[in-house]
Amino acid sequence: MSNTLPSEDGGKEKYDTSGFRKYNIPLEQVPKFSHDDPRVDEYISEMKPVLITGSNLIESAMKWDLEYISEHMPSSNLTVIISKDHNFKYVNEKKLPQGQMSNLKPIHTRWSSMTAREFLQKIKSWKEGDERLYLQQVLDSSVGPQLVQDFLHFNWEWAKNKQRIHGWGPLTSNLLLISMEGNVTPCHYDEQQNLFVGIRGFKRCILFPPEQFDCLYPPPVSDPHDRQSQVDFENPDLKRFPKFSEARGMEAIVGRGDILYIPLYWWHHIESKQNDDYTVSLNFWYKTKPTADIEYPLKSHQKVAILRNIEKMVAEALQNPDEVAHLMRALVLGRYTE
Ligand code: FUM
Ligand code: FE
Repeated sequence: MSNTLPSEDGGKEKYDTSGFRKYNIPLEQVPKFSHDDPRVDEYISEMKPVLITGSNLIESAMKWDLEYISEHMPSSNLTVIISKDHNFKYVNEKKLPQGQMSNLKPIHTRWSSMTAREFLQKIKSWKEGDERLYLQQVLDSSVGPQLVQDFLHFNWEWAKNKQRIHGWGPLTSNLLLISMEGNVTPCHYDEQQNLFVGIRGFKRCILFPPEQFDCLYPPPVSDPHDRQSQVDFENPDLKRFPKFSEARGMEAIVGRGDILYIPLYWWHHIESKQNDDYTVSLNFWYKTKPTADIEYPLKSHQKVAILRNIEKMVAEALQNPDEVAHLMRALVLGRYTE
């Protein structure tokens, strides 16, 4: 007989004891190594996620909190996303159908801009039921001379070394993320390599390999939610998305000074810890290596890239996303299937 007692809330509590939401997904831990451990580069070269500790990549940014940013950028307007709830699902407005009502659920995020001081005041006075805020600012010269100085003092040698060893293309951008506690960036994949660095508080990242593409049900590439899973992790609709029950994830808790390598095409779902007031993190996005290096058998991320290209090509040729399924079925059914 089991001697496990049912929990007092009957298992219905939304958070686990570590302050993150509970999901019914089997998770294993992302391996964690010191920055000077040779296994870091082994994982990166195999395009597998790894949590890197003890590097001083952005030592000069460790003081970047809202007080410091307000002091040094008092009048800059920063990009802030506003959401009706904790989910910050990205909407690509360029892909919204023009002149017609979208068949999306009502879009519940919108863009805004405000100073760091205004953002700080809003999150300090925030109460349950209010809209939530998430500051997401690309680092460019508009961040002012002090932050530019801090940026120039990053350990670029370390970063360039990773870029060289792994044959990555150029650094395309750095995104500064300042999140209210409990905010969630729902599961999606990006088409670039990402070094995701923690500055303040804790974020949990749940990752899935590109092989699990069919467990996570991305919408068509033409959809404003392209590259994002349609599955609601808190309440998965297993009738519509049955293979989600086969999803197997990996988990990493990213704290101050940690770097999580998120390989391109790996799905990731990111959440700021509850009761942490706010988290600060910084992304480094790199282009991947040129495709001339393709080797057979193809790797799963390359297959996802091919799927995307074929899908884009067919959608563009047909000029109507509703006709894509019919054409693709005619191509495959009874010919490549039994
Ligand atoms: O919320 C986040 O930190 C998301 C980061 C990402 O998707 O790269
Ligand atoms: Fe991402």
